[in-house]
Amino acid sequence: MSENPFQFGNPVPPHLFVDHKRQLRTVVNRILNLGQSTAIVGEPRLGKTSLILYFSSRIYRSYLFGKDHVSFHFLHLDAQRLDCEITPNLFWRTILEPLGNHLIKLTKKPMLASAYMQCVEHDFENQLLGDLFSLLHENNHLAILIIDEFDSLLNCKNLLIPSFLGCLRSFASLSKGMSLIIASRLDLEALTQRTREIYAGGSPLTNIFAEVRMSCFSQSDSMVLLEKGNEYFSPKDRAFISKISGGHPYFLQAAAYFLWDAYNDETIPVETRWKYACEQLYPYVANTMKETWKLWSPSVKKVFIVISLNDIPQLIQKENFDINFLIDSLDDYEPELRILERQGFLKNTHGSESNAGYQVSAEAMLWWISDEIILSIRDGGDLGKWLIDQQWDGLLKKGEKNTATACGEFFGRMAKRRNRCFY
Ligand SMILES: Nc1ncnc2c1ncn2[C@@H]1O[C@H](COP(=O)(O)OP(=O)(O)O)[C@@H](O)[C@H]1O
Ligand SMILES: [Mg+2]
Repeated sequence: MSENPFQFGNPVPPHLFVDHKRQLRTVVNRILNLGQSTAIVGEPRLGKTSLILYFSSRIYRSYLFGKDHVSFHFLHLDAQRLDCEITPNLFWRTILEPLGNHLIKLTKKPMLASAYMQCVEHDFENQLLGDLFSLLHENNHLAILIIDEFDSLLNCKNLLIPSFLGCLRSFASLSKGMSLIIASRLDLEALTQRTREIYAGGSPLTNIFAEVRMSCFSQSDSMVLLEKGNEYFSPKDRAFISKISGGHPYFLQAAAYFLWDAYNDETIPVETRWKYACEQLYPYVANTMKETWKLWSPSVKKVFIVISLNDIPQLIQKENFDINFLIDSLDDYEPELRILERQGFLKNTHGSESNAGYQVSAEAMLWWISDEIILSIRDGGDLGKWLIDQQWDGLLKKGEKNTATACGEFFGRMAKRRNRCFY
């Protein structure tokens, strides 16, 4: 039995990382360009933490950062693991400790160790922290603070004060000895909204960052990843995985993992391997889509549902029902369509026969959305109620509501026949 080369669940270790080239280039160039700060934003499981592990790993440092890397200090903190009572003093102590240990061993530069010790002895006072970062810069060192799951930091009430967030901002923007990289499910606009009242007229923390958005893999990156399965996978298998996962890194890895598993398990009949992979994959898709859904604005949700409704009849069975009214209404939703396309959740089909101009990239997302709709109908609500629960009310015009109800009836009928796996 050969070892499964696919990995999902934990962030991928650097040697299994498939390039998110554009995102990587931005983070690296900004660090090299005077330690500028970056926010890596994206829905869960698009690869934020994997990207962080890659650019901060020792193995790839000289490849990515050239000779400068020797004086870079990558300091990680996962904000999800912080006690929500954490104080600024404890925050700095936790994140700077590995740097302090390194500076203490650096006998050639005793003033750096001494500046760090001053911070420790005086509860990481802002003035002393500023001195430490300036001294690091004067000695060609750069502390790169990486805060993963930054949105969780907003639950730590003791940190939501101007003296903490303001200093974090000024160290990262003014002192060249410190760079700040955050990873967040919320984008910068949402983070700014959430922290707005803290600043009372001052500059928000968020305006020092360039935003790097994670997205699904391109077709060529998906194929690079699937090459790891060459021992078993036929071109048809690869096309199948690509189609159900739509290049979503987590879905792609999980689908490939389960298909590999099916090849390795002699009790699974050859002709049911795809079905097996779909069934195993589904719970992971459902969990991730639920988390993703929570982050989307009502108008992004609307766009995604309309495109899904348009796609589903092709997937389940060709039925005649009139979706054109909803499709026409998408003319007012160009920004949302572009966001979903840029992130890889939708693919542009302009120029093809598709009437909507877009398609949901991953078939597995359609399984989830059709289940959500079916469940909402079965559990007593009609699609209209479901749409209200999803905060759609008000976005739908009267005519659209009628069409939506018609779709609800359609799905009610479909639910009886629905077989989760389409293969
Ligand atoms: N660059 C990558 N190369 C290969 N697989 C990846 C990559 N990025 C993400 N993945 C897949 O997606 C999963 C989730 O990645 P992770 O970094 O934990 O996402 P996030 O931090 O955005 O939630 C990983 O377990 C892996 O299966
Ligand atoms: Mg993560």
